[in-house]
Amino acid sequence: MVNFKKIIAEKIAKVVELNIEEIESYIEIPPNQEMGDYAFPCFKLAKTLRKAPPIIATELKEKIETDSNIEKIDIAGGYLNFYINKLELAKYVLEEIDLKQEKYGSNESGNGKNIVIDYSSPNIAKPFHIGHLRNTVIGSALYKIYKYLGYNTTSVNHLGDYGTQFGKMIEGYKRWGEEYDLESNPIDECMNIYVRINNLCKEDESVLEQCRENFKKIEEGDPYCVEIWNKFKSLSLKEFQKIYDLLGVTFDSFNGEAFYSDKMDEIVEILEKNNSLNESEGAKIVNLEDKGLGVCMIKKSNGSTSYATRDLAAVLYRTRTYDFDKCLYVVAYEQNLHFKQIFEVAKCLEIPEKCLNGLEHVAYGMVRLTTGKMSTREGTVIKVDELLQEAIDRVQKIIDEKNPNMENREEEAKKIGIGAVIFNNVCSTIIKDQVFDWNTVLNFNGETGPYIQYVYVRTKSVLEKAGYIPNINEVKFELLQDKESLKVISTLYNFENILMSVVEKNEPSLLARYLIELSQNYSNFYNENKIIDDNKEIQNARVYLSKAVGTVLKTGASLLGIQMPDKM
Ligand code: ARG
Repeated sequence: MVNFKKIIAEKIAKVVELNIEEIESYIEIPPNQEMGDYAFPCFKLAKTLRKAPPIIATELKEKIETDSNIEKIDIAGGYLNFYINKLELAKYVLEEIDLKQEKYGSNESGNGKNIVIDYSSPNIAKPFHIGHLRNTVIGSALYKIYKYLGYNTTSVNHLGDYGTQFGKMIEGYKRWGEEYDLESNPIDECMNIYVRINNLCKEDESVLEQCRENFKKIEEGDPYCVEIWNKFKSLSLKEFQKIYDLLGVTFDSFNGEAFYSDKMDEIVEILEKNNSLNESEGAKIVNLEDKGLGVCMIKKSNGSTSYATRDLAAVLYRTRTYDFDKCLYVVAYEQNLHFKQIFEVAKCLEIPEKCLNGLEHVAYGMVRLTTGKMSTREGTVIKVDELLQEAIDRVQKIIDEKNPNMENREEEAKKIGIGAVIFNNVCSTIIKDQVFDWNTVLNFNGETGPYIQYVYVRTKSVLEKAGYIPNINEVKFELLQDKESLKVISTLYNFENILMSVVEKNEPSLLARYLIELSQNYSNFYNENKIIDDNKEIQNARVYLSKAVGTVLKTGASLLGIQMPDKM
C-alpha cells in the first residue's frame, strides 16, 4: 500500500543532506490530527545547518512541493507538519482492503528469513499453570504474526522432559504405582507421586540415591525405566494437547530437552577444544564471572548434564537445522540470567555470526492472582484447563441470562470465553507482571477480548440490516470525510505498520491495543453517523466502511489466536 511516511521522507531528502531511511526514522505522528498527520522535527538538522529549528522549518517549507498525496505543509515551532490528502487516503485504504480481504496487512517483508520461536515448553508430569498460559499465548501470537509478514517460521515446544525429577517419578511409580489412577487424572496423580517421593527422599538419603540411579538408567536406555518415563510423557502430552486444542495453538516441533540427550557430548568437546571449560570441584563449568554472569554449569560432578547444556545443544542443533536469522525464547524473566549465560557461552560454539546475533530472550512478566502469588504447596495454582473451562461456563451463564435463544450457544461461548482469556494475556506490555481477575477479563465494555468481539458482531449486524453490501466502485469516498469516518480510516491504514512494529519489538500487545483503538473508533463512528439511511450513497459508503472494519478486526484477532463469534 502507499506509504505516506516514505513519500514525505523522499520529499525531504530532495532538499536536505540526509538519506531517506534516516529521515523516515525521525518522522513522528503528531499527538492530535489537527496538527497534521506526520511531523518532521527540524532540530535534527540544527547542528549541521547551524540554524534555529523554526528557521530551518520555514526554509524547508518553501522548498518542498505539495502534490496529490500531501495537500498541505505547515510550520509549528521547529516542526514541519504534513497533511495528507484524506480523499486519497480513503481510496487507498478501502481499495487495498477490497483487494486483499482477510490478507490485508500481510506483506513479504520477511521473505527469505528464518525465525525459530521457542514457546510454551512446559514440564512433563507437572501442572500447566497460568504462567505457561501467558507464554503459550504470547508465543503463538508472535508465531502467527511473523508468518503473516512472510517469515519462514518454526515453532518449537522445548518440553521439560529430562532430569533427575524423572528418576524420582520412576522410583515413586515403582513403589506405589498401583495406588494411583494415572489414566484418568494423570497430572494430579503425577504430582501426588512426586510430592510423596520427595518427602521420602528428604527422610532417606538412600532413596534419593535410587532416584539418581533411575535417571542414569534412562540415559543408558534401560528398557523398564525408559518405558515408564515414556508413559509419563505421553500422558502429560495428552493433557497438554487438550489445552493447545482449546487455544488453537500448534507446534512444528516438540523436540524437548530429552531430544538433546545424545547431542551434549559435542558441546563438551567443542568447549573443551577451545579452552572454555574449567574444572571446579569435579564439575565442568564455563566461568563468566568477568562478565558479571557467574558460572554456567555444563557437567555436574556426578557426570550428569544440566538445563544449560541442553539449551546449548539446542542452539547448535537449531543453527544447523533451521539456519535461523532469529531464535526467540519466550520465557519468564525469572530466567534472565540463564539466557544471558547461554547466549554468552554460545559465542564459543563456532556458530555463524548471523545466528549468534539472532538469539533473543523475549522475557515476560509473572502472572499473579488477585489473592497474591501462586504456590503449588498452598494449592493456589490455577490450572489452565480448569481456568479455560470456567471462562466458557461463565460466558455460557451470561448468554443464558441475556440471550437464551442464541444459536450455537456452546460454540459461541467457547469463542468468547477463550477469546477473553487470550486477550487478557496479550493486552499489556509483556514484561509487566500481570494480575488475573475474572471481573476485568470478562468485562464486555472494558478493554477486553469480548469488547472487540462485540464490536465485530455489530459490524456484521450492520451489514445484515443494510441487506445490500455495495461493491468498492459504488463507494463515494467523499462521503467518508467526516471526523469519525476519517479516524476509522486512518486507523485501518495503520494496521500493517502495527504488525511491523510487533515483530520489530516482539511485542504482541501493540496489536491488542490497536484492536481496542479500532473498536473504539468504530463505536464513535457508529454513534455519530446514521448508517442505514434514505440516501443510498451515504448508506453504501458507511456500510462499506463497516465491512472493512469487520474484516480487519477479524484478521487482527485471529493473529492473536482469538476467534470471532457470529452472534453475541
Ligand atoms: N521448561 C522450562 C520451564 O518451564 C522452560 C523452557 C524454556 N525454553 C528453553 N529453551 N529453555 O521453566
